Amino acid sequence: MKIGVLGTGTVGITLGTKLVELGYQVKMGSRTPDNEKAAEWVKRAGEGASQGTFADAASFGEVLFNCTGGGVSIEALKLAGAQNLKGKTLVDVANTLDFSKGMPPTLTVLNTDSLGEQIQREFPEAKVVKTLNTVAAPIMVDPKLVQGDHDVFMSGDDPQAKGQVQRILREFGWRNVIDLGDISTARGTEMWLALWVRLMMGFQSPMFNVHIQRSLDAPDPATASRLRGQR
Ligand SMILES: NC(=O)c1ccc[n+]([C@@H]2O[C@H](COP(=O)([O-])OP(=O)(O)OC[C@H]3O[C@@H](n4cnc5c(N)ncnc54)[C@H](OP(=O)(O)O)[C@@H]3O)[C@@H](O)[C@H]2O)c1
Repeated sequence: MKIGVLGTGTVGITLGTKLVELGYQVKMGSRTPDNEKAAEWVKRAGEGASQGTFADAASFGEVLFNCTGGGVSIEALKLAGAQNLKGKTLVDVANTLDFSKGMPPTLTVLNTDSLGEQIQREFPEAKVVKTLNTVAAPIMVDPKLVQGDHDVFMSGDDPQAKGQVQRILREFGWRNVIDLGDISTARGTEMWLALWVRLMMGFQSPMFNVHIQRSLDAPDPATASRLRGQR
């Protein structure tokens, strides 16, 4: 399968490298067709890796990853072109962190909105799935770097797109994928960054993740209804 990775930063390089290793054909997109970081990556990643503009990568990919800065993602996706996003699964891993006033950064979208929703509204024909934004880039593609059980979240309106993303997450090694529901649930994972950056500052390392441990007294709705039926 062909994948378009939009973004030449740490996340684009990390995801692109893993996807090529997994046997996907990956085109990395940038504002310019000959971005230096993308060119170095193409050399390193080898067969299956190529580069181009955001529009080149978006038209190439059957599945797309948005790995651009959260504050510029809409701009980058406009450069990618709405027609190139149409009908495609668009995996959004971005966070709207604003470092302009130093550490800790603030979020520019929160409470009543999220970047995931903004992208879905701006590009209604794309199938936006928010995931992986809650973990550091190395963990995204190698969850074993954190010992024990830990979780990744997924938000999106399209069940088929979420199924497709879940399969890729499993190939990355994720065992616990929590489907939070529609794209508005991305508010939760994007706002988690307010705590994530403080944990990262305290630990002096981004290499951690969370595991949701549930009380047996609070089963999920399917289990609750089954249990009620048994009474
Ligand atoms: N770093 C992590 O571990 C981590 C973890 C979770 C989530 N995230 C999120 O993942 C995303 C990517 O992070 P990153 O550190 O890899 O990269 P980044 O530095 O945040 O973004 C790099 C990309 O943004 C593009 N860009 C910059 N300004 C632009 C503009 N004005 N218009 C259009 N595109 C523009 C760049 O284009 P060019 O290629 O043309 O330079 C480049 O491709 C961010 O949203 C970040 O919050 C990061």
